[in-house]
Amino acid sequence: MTASRATARERVSARVRALRPSETLALSARARELRARGEHVVSFAAGEPDFDTPEHIRAAGVEAIQSGHTRYTEVAGVAALREAITAKLARENRVTYDPREIVVSNGAKHAIWNALFTLLEPGDEVLCPVPYWVTFPEIVRLIGATPVPVMPASGRYKVTPVELERARSPRSRLLVLNSPNNPSGAVYTRREIEALAEFVLRHDLYVLSDEIYEILVYGDAEHVSIASLGPELRERTVLVNGVSKTWAMTGWRLGYAAAPREVADGMERLQGQMTSNPSSVSQQAALRALTGDRGPALAMRERFAKRRDRMVERLRRIGGVRLEVPAGAFYAFPDVSERIAGARNGVADSAGLCDYLIDEAKIVCVPGSAFGLEGHLRLSYAISERDIDEGLDRLEAAFQGL
Ligand SMILES: Cc1ncc(COP(=O)(O)O)c(C=O)c1O
Repeated sequence: MTASRATARERVSARVRALRPSETLALSARARELRARGEHVVSFAAGEPDFDTPEHIRAAGVEAIQSGHTRYTEVAGVAALREAITAKLARENRVTYDPREIVVSNGAKHAIWNALFTLLEPGDEVLCPVPYWVTFPEIVRLIGATPVPVMPASGRYKVTPVELERARSPRSRLLVLNSPNNPSGAVYTRREIEALAEFVLRHDLYVLSDEIYEILVYGDAEHVSIASLGPELRERTVLVNGVSKTWAMTGWRLGYAAAPREVADGMERLQGQMTSNPSSVSQQAALRALTGDRGPALAMRERFAKRRDRMVERLRRIGGVRLEVPAGAFYAFPDVSERIAGARNGVADSAGLCDYLIDEAKIVCVPGSAFGLEGHLRLSYAISERDIDEGLDRLEAAFQGL
């Protein structure tokens, strides 16, 4: 008798089968499909700036190719870049690192994988404040650890030590902090970060601090890195950042982590067996971004600030929509639960509402359920002012038909 053959599905490991596909990527694919059929789709699903990488940084990339920066580099990134990162962290975030405590990776996402694989054991619990960026719980689960969602008070998008305490157990090992936040745009104040820091110290936890949207804060909001609150916090934090969002460099795939030496060594070992160094060309471009003129990044922030105001103003005029003004990143996260509850056409949740909005109004939004919070939509304003206006006109009209 021959052994029974595995079906094609069974050849994919159970671990990978359990991975959820990215809902944001699936929605973008659907928008592309509709566009290919000639429909005028307005997509609020964008997760990246719609601007080009600034000219001086593109030039640095070209120069890097021409001058032969085309070979393997040190696994954790070339010394000049790691030094530039430590200078940036000292200057802008008030936290001091040695270049050997920096690991440069293929995007911030890769840096997060490195950090979580280095810090977690199977069975550990990870406190994930809701709403969370979709990737965090997926990585945690893949490691065999457990993501524990931490619900904020209704109508708020930031957690407090009281809520964290409720979610904590003796197995809790790490807190994921993402400020400014994707998807809510919430930015923790210094005082709020101090309160979280106290909780972290009290329970001897690690922190993964994802600061990728750090420069995109508006009004009087201020970005505060938890690692900057003193040596004890620095010792238990992996700070993740990169050039993707600040410098409109998503395609270059360049991010980094800063961590205490032993943790950084672990991440470097892991990366050495996985991808080796991030692109040598992108490293030179990132070096120019971090050491050159900050003007273009600040100009992009100004554009985002104006779009945010426009979006907030429009959304607030739509009945049955509640909105906490986003203080950072490039997303609005309106609470539309009242609209869903009142729907007479079968729409029962945020995913159903997104389907309805695509079918009826040709607008693409991401459902709150993708980020662990039902009753919400994520609308990106990393799109043109014209599309924001057109999309919100359509949203308003489509809500009438619910
Ligand atoms: C919160 C957050 N962290 C990390 C990333 C990934 O950044 P990168 O493109 O540098 O991998 C994103 C991208 O959407 C994000 O929203």
